[in-house]
Amino acid sequence: MTPKPNLDGPDRTTEAVSVLRNNDRGGYTVPSQHLYPFQWNWDSLFAALGWAKFDVARAWTEIETLFEAQWPSGMVPHIVFWSESESYFPGPDVWQINGSTPPTSGISQPPVAATIVRRLAETHGLPPRSLYERIERWHQWWHRARDPEGRGVIAITHPWESGRDNLPDWDLPLSRVTPTLIDGYERRDLDHVNPDMRPHNDDYERYLALVAYGASKGWDDAAIAQESPFWVADPCLTAVLLRAERDLVWLGEAIGADTIETHRRVDRLSEGFEQFWNPAVGAYCSLDLRTGVHADAATSASFLAPYGGINEHSDRLLDELEAWSNACTYLVPSFDPRHPSFEPLRYWRGPVWCMVNYMIATGLAEFGAPDWAERLRSDTSKLITLSGMPESFDPLTGGPVGGEHFTWTAALWLAWARGSNNGQGPKAEPTAR
Ligand code: GLC
Repeated sequence: MTPKPNLDGPDRTTEAVSVLRNNDRGGYTVPSQHLYPFQWNWDSLFAALGWAKFDVARAWTEIETLFEAQWPSGMVPHIVFWSESESYFPGPDVWQINGSTPPTSGISQPPVAATIVRRLAETHGLPPRSLYERIERWHQWWHRARDPEGRGVIAITHPWESGRDNLPDWDLPLSRVTPTLIDGYERRDLDHVNPDMRPHNDDYERYLALVAYGASKGWDDAAIAQESPFWVADPCLTAVLLRAERDLVWLGEAIGADTIETHRRVDRLSEGFEQFWNPAVGAYCSLDLRTGVHADAATSASFLAPYGGINEHSDRLLDELEAWSNACTYLVPSFDPRHPSFEPLRYWRGPVWCMVNYMIATGLAEFGAPDWAERLRSDTSKLITLSGMPESFDPLTGGPVGGEHFTWTAALWLAWARGSNNGQGPKAEPTAR
């Protein structure tokens, strides 16, 4: 008789440690071996949470390595091409970042650094002041480059900057971008993943057009803010930055730095956040800053407001979460499961991402909804127990979606989803703020 596989917590823990070790490239961790063979910004920060569970020094190195690629402007790029690889497109030649060492992309990603550094610092001691200062410069860049009018909402200039690449929210703004073909263009992602789980070609050509546009402007922030055909304020990015600013205040105070400017930025974003509220949907929705039009549906980011410390509509958000829980098996799908654009397998149009669950649960626990926080942890734990460590999960069946042996899924298992009582337990963990 074949022995039944042991899918309990400890088994997955060994697997999670192996995923991190196998994806380790010495100083940074690739998200997934073939699909994403370089260093990705927010993936690395979540990876650090996982590393910290068994190798704290390695966790700090992950973060320091990412910040080595910071631009003089303060921007921290979304991809750092530390090595060459044929398995990914578009590479450094398409981004055309002149003189950047190492080569990088020209856009950023949701800034979870201050929050994760704070979390490590609380347990393992403060980081060097130089890291704090680098994060401070990155945050300044977000406000200067992506909110130059000081509205208190942060724009993205490319869907990839949101970290939620093909979300239906971007469809309408993206429709104004003329697709262009790049010479010798060949998608490499489809070599590694089922095309039903990846963005459509039409979207992909517009993504490339936006890369070509940024490159044509020499990635000049002011020009991009003024003219980019794609300029959409993102509630995920804004909530993540808002929380990160609060955590930067904590770090700054612990380090003995002047935090007056950071406090001002917290105030500006806290006041600005209401601009995302779409009364027609009853949720926080992205806002196209070129047209003033909100997206017409809630996404998983709608539940991130409490993570940013915004609780004005949190009771309404809990009702919405309840409705979603009746429409799918596992929370939280990336897009409203009742909406016609919902696709349970296609990347950010439906699947559950465990690092988003972690952030939402953290905010809900702080808001005073520990049962919902625990539901999200327990769903994430069940998904990983059932399907291992893929990139994301089908919210209807719990099946694996996207790339395999994925770093942030492994890291979040170690740092959160497994719980502290062998998967029985607890709470999303935030400390008093
Ligand atoms: C995709 C995701 C993005 C992630 C990257 C690497 O582009 O949308 O959030 O950082 O893959 O995992």
